[in-house]
Amino acid sequence: MLVAILPGDGIGPEVTAQARRVLDALAVPGMTYESALVGGAAYHATGHPLPPETLDLAKRADAILFGAVGDPTCDSLERALRPEQAILGLRKELTLFSNLRPAKMFPELADDSTLRREIAEAIDLLIVRELNGDVYFGEKGMRRTADGLREGYDIMSYNEAEVRRIAHSAFKAAQARRGKLCSVDKANVLETSQLWRDVVIEVAADYPDVALSHMYVDNAAMQLVRNPGQFDVIVTGNLFGDILSDQASMCVGSIGMLASASLDANGKGLYEPIHGSAPDIAGQSKANPLATILSAAMMLRFSLGQAEAADRIEAAVAKALAGGARTADLGGSLSTSAMGDAVLAAL
Ligand code: NAI
Ligand code: MG
Repeated sequence: MLVAILPGDGIGPEVTAQARRVLDALAVPGMTYESALVGGAAYHATGHPLPPETLDLAKRADAILFGAVGDPTCDSLERALRPEQAILGLRKELTLFSNLRPAKMFPELADDSTLRREIAEAIDLLIVRELNGDVYFGEKGMRRTADGLREGYDIMSYNEAEVRRIAHSAFKAAQARRGKLCSVDKANVLETSQLWRDVVIEVAADYPDVALSHMYVDNAAMQLVRNPGQFDVIVTGNLFGDILSDQASMCVGSIGMLASASLDANGKGLYEPIHGSAPDIAGQSKANPLATILSAAMMLRFSLGQAEAADRIEAAVAKALAGGARTADLGGSLSTSAMGDAVLAAL
């Protein structure tokens, strides 16, 4: 089993290094690793954020562990050469359309949540975010209005096949959990969302055991902080899912805690923390590596058939937290590698 490790930029290499230490400690038989440059690091070395050899490795690998991309020194580049295009390109090239972002409260972190303890403790939800469509991939550009004003535009669209496949992913995920699915859209004002809602309702006929509800995204943002315990699985589009999952991360204590899986139709996946390259703390060994370590656990579970190893990682993270291990984002003072040490010790 080949795992591609793509550390990327900023804190990406710092957090993936800790995940790699944990994977090495588990010593799962038959696992091999190959690394490649991606994002700004790849641009500076090769002139492109997603060079052919990196894409080739991603295609050959059984699973991909990804850090983060984003580099302020690339801000003035044309859009196609910006680091972020690498992750968008990987999601598109590998048809990784289903993004699973679990948010579960570690009881030890209830006091780190921005929510009151009794509200935070009930959080155990999964955001299923569509990853191959929406406004991120629509036609975009700059033009002039009739009276000469600059105007930027990004087309938001979904076709019914795209909605149907993510809806099936979400209903299946709900079946494997508590049987509740909330579809989040903005059907009161967006045609894209009206189609989304219609198709989700059609797909629901195949899953009579799942209780489907619908919510407008603005209300969902409010409900996520008012009473997040009401949610089991949330399914939503690319843009709304991006925003709501960052919000959910603070509800469970820190953006440094949320892992994710981006899957294709056959279960091949890219695994990454939901955060970015965090240039404000890069190179200072302040980043919390747990989101990436937990992403490695998801990788073992979903793409590599190693559920037991995944359980061990998750238990070790819980144990490290219970023992008081905290990076700065969690109100502590451990460095990135010291948090890695704490997880290894617990393992
Ligand atoms: P960000 O997620 O990188 O950082 C937001 C805030 O959270 C910062 O204050 C940062 O210090 C903090 N933070 C993030 N991860 C943390 C961790 N593991 N431990 C402790 N604190 C952490 O988002 P931002 O600042 O909006 O974007 C920075 C760059 O990352 C941009 O270039 C952006 O495009 C890129 N980005 C890349 C993503 C990816 O590679 N999948 C996802 C999101 C953003
Ligand atoms: Mg985001």
